[in-house]
Amino acid sequence: MLNIALPKGRLGNKVYELFESIGYDCDEIKSDNRKLIFENPDKKIRFLLVKPSDVAVYVEKGSADIGVVGKDILLEDNPDVYELLDLGFGKCKFGIAGPVNFKENFDRPLVVATKYFNVSKRYFDSINRDVELIKLNGSIEIAPILELSDVIVDIVETGTTLRENHLKVLNFIGDISARLIANKSSYRFNHDKIENIVRKIKDKIDKTDKK
Ligand code: PRP
Repeated sequence: MLNIALPKGRLGNKVYELFESIGYDCDEIKSDNRKLIFENPDKKIRFLLVKPSDVAVYVEKGSADIGVVGKDILLEDNPDVYELLDLGFGKCKFGIAGPVNFKENFDRPLVVATKYFNVSKRYFDSINRDVELIKLNGSIEIAPILELSDVIVDIVETGTTLRENHLKVLNFIGDISARLIANKSSYRFNHDKIENIVRKIKDKIDKTDKK
């Protein structure tokens, strides 16, 4: 059995469609239930549904052989895995955002709220800007409204969350999309099986690009 960690939630549906399109039935995953493990004995694979931010943990530790994860998580957590393929969906950007009337005060450190502590630290270090970083776990957009922070660093997809909270992007600092990753030793041991999946996904992406 090849264990494949897939993200639940927003990215999930696109990922299940991708695996269906290359011949792995995902009907049961898409049906409304609370199961987290789905086996396909004929195809010798097992899907594990996990939190998007945990996919790389399961793959790095070897509980899953391969997985699908957002590049945002890879940049933040820097897991020791192989990144095999850019899947070309789940596209969004890292953005610095602040109130629509934001004026930066360069006489003091910029206060930044974010889920992406490491990404933010690297960025602000690279431009030599002193910051105070505040780590939050979600609903980051509230932080500047309540004056917990001056700005936020977060992912922006449609921009709706920012607009609806009277914030605007001040600067985009990186592109994100879904990536196929593999456990390093599993990639060696299961090379043919994994490369077979990679080839099917590549063919699928190429065909979609040509449409
Ligand atoms: C993410 C992100 C933004 C939102 C951006 O949050 O943190 O809040 O999506 O998407 P948009 O540009 O299309 O509005 P998510 O829904 O993952 O929930 P969270 O706030 O709990 O992180």
